[in-house]
Amino acid sequence: MAKAAFYITTPIYYVNDIPHIGHAYTTLACDVIARFKRLDGYDVMFLTGTDEHGQKVEKSAAAKNKNPQEFCDEVSGRFRELARFMNFSNDDFIRTTEQRHKISCQALWRQLEDSGNIYLDKYSGWYSVRDEAYYAENELVPGENGQKLAPTGAAVEWVEEESYFFKLSAWADDLLKWYQTVPATVLPVSRRNEVSSFVKGGLRDLSISRTSFSWGIPVPGNDKHIMYVWIDALANYLTAAGYPDVDSDRFRKFWPADIHMVGKDILRFHAVYWPAFLMAAGIEPPKRVFAHGWWTNEGRKISKSLGNVIDPFAIVEEFGLDQVRYFLMREVPFGKDGDFSRHAMIARINSDLANDLGNLAQRSLSMIFKNCDHRIPECGDLTPEDQAILVKADTLLANLRELMDCQKINRTVEVIWKLVSDCNGYFAGQAPWTLKTSDPARMATVLYVTAEVVRQIAILTSFIMPDSAAKLLDQLNVDADQRGFDQLGPVGRLTPGTMIDKPEGVFPRYVEKDRDQ
Ligand code: MSP
Repeated sequence: MAKAAFYITTPIYYVNDIPHIGHAYTTLACDVIARFKRLDGYDVMFLTGTDEHGQKVEKSAAAKNKNPQEFCDEVSGRFRELARFMNFSNDDFIRTTEQRHKISCQALWRQLEDSGNIYLDKYSGWYSVRDEAYYAENELVPGENGQKLAPTGAAVEWVEEESYFFKLSAWADDLLKWYQTVPATVLPVSRRNEVSSFVKGGLRDLSISRTSFSWGIPVPGNDKHIMYVWIDALANYLTAAGYPDVDSDRFRKFWPADIHMVGKDILRFHAVYWPAFLMAAGIEPPKRVFAHGWWTNEGRKISKSLGNVIDPFAIVEEFGLDQVRYFLMREVPFGKDGDFSRHAMIARINSDLANDLGNLAQRSLSMIFKNCDHRIPECGDLTPEDQAILVKADTLLANLRELMDCQKINRTVEVIWKLVSDCNGYFAGQAPWTLKTSDPARMATVLYVTAEVVRQIAILTSFIMPDSAAKLLDQLNVDADQRGFDQLGPVGRLTPGTMIDKPEGVFPRYVEKDRDQ
């Protein structure tokens, strides 16, 4: 039977900036979801990439005395590096300066034009280059010296030029209907309410082309105009799915996208403009847009001017890759804002990873290695305690699927850690080390049951910490093709007699070095 398809996207990142924790976080969340789905038998397409056009990038390149393409090549490379470094499993990496994207964008434009959704007029109003967004007078806030600022704090400039407009105002009712679709098209619910009140407040048509700079995709048939960078950027999701070849297997299989993952700051573009563009072009809108929260650093907003930007390369060097992946996914309810602190990171590493999971695996597997001739022991008759812990492991997946289906990633991790904690309780309660001479057969059974639960925990954590989980499964000698969710429960039970490798600790404790030395 053909596998069900699943298409997930990250926002494409502006190349005016080098990668920071915010970028790493969005892509990590997608990676974790993509891996979960692959383990669960789906044919996944996971897309990330870079957003390379627009005035902001043009200005950043000029500031560095580089031509825009050369500048984009360089910074886009850093984002690819980050993806490799953080073990992201993206299937494609799109750049908006690629030819496939130009073709797709222009095709989308034509479709919008042919359907009567685009008209030429004159734009006069406020524009923020930093946000690449238009603002109405009543949205502006006062800055220093009576200067007007965007609600995000970005500078705005007055723009007056000929411009193409998209008839956004015509799509309000369809958008409001789309927000009511089940399963939810916009999550968390608080964010859906936010966009829905924005739409109810009245939509104005959207200026979608500029004439005052040139770094972008020309409007077909009028190359004095460059497409508004958000149309260009949003269309990347279609391009990678094979658009404009809507009859291709790829497009039919993967479109509409299952999840567009975004940060809360770019929700309006994804949950108002984007579905409206698509509906207007006669293309199905995505199944879901999920907006996650923002990280602060030790309680303070992260910003270049405060000099407290968190470099993902540096924290991974210091704390370890899977440790950082675990922390970012475990620490904060997904969708809410969160605070990055060294103290919290170290606490998670030492308590959840080194103590709870690391010790459980190390103690049980070392006992097997020493006392059972390096082999998975025989499993004797099961007591109610043995059965209870096995049933917990065997039946956890249904619960996790439900949570992951609404992107409750941190709840998912918590539920897995409840199993880790129950298994620790079981191991301590059965105290197999007291049975070595008094009842070796019972000791063998307890060790078998514990190792079997550790096997399932390793599979269940592999979408969060792929390398560490693989090390645990290697130690248990589980075949590479027996590490999917279809191997959870009794079907995948460890085979007594299987040789195991000498266990080595997978989650070292973090010892704070004297940072002055
Ligand atoms: N280029 C646009 C997206 C176009 S998608 C069609 C863009 N790029 S961005 O590089 O500025 O931001 C990308 C993502 O990083 C956003 O989802 C944003 O929310 C996220 N983050 C930036 N700083 C962040 C934090 N401090 N914390 C969490 N995520 C944050 O917007």
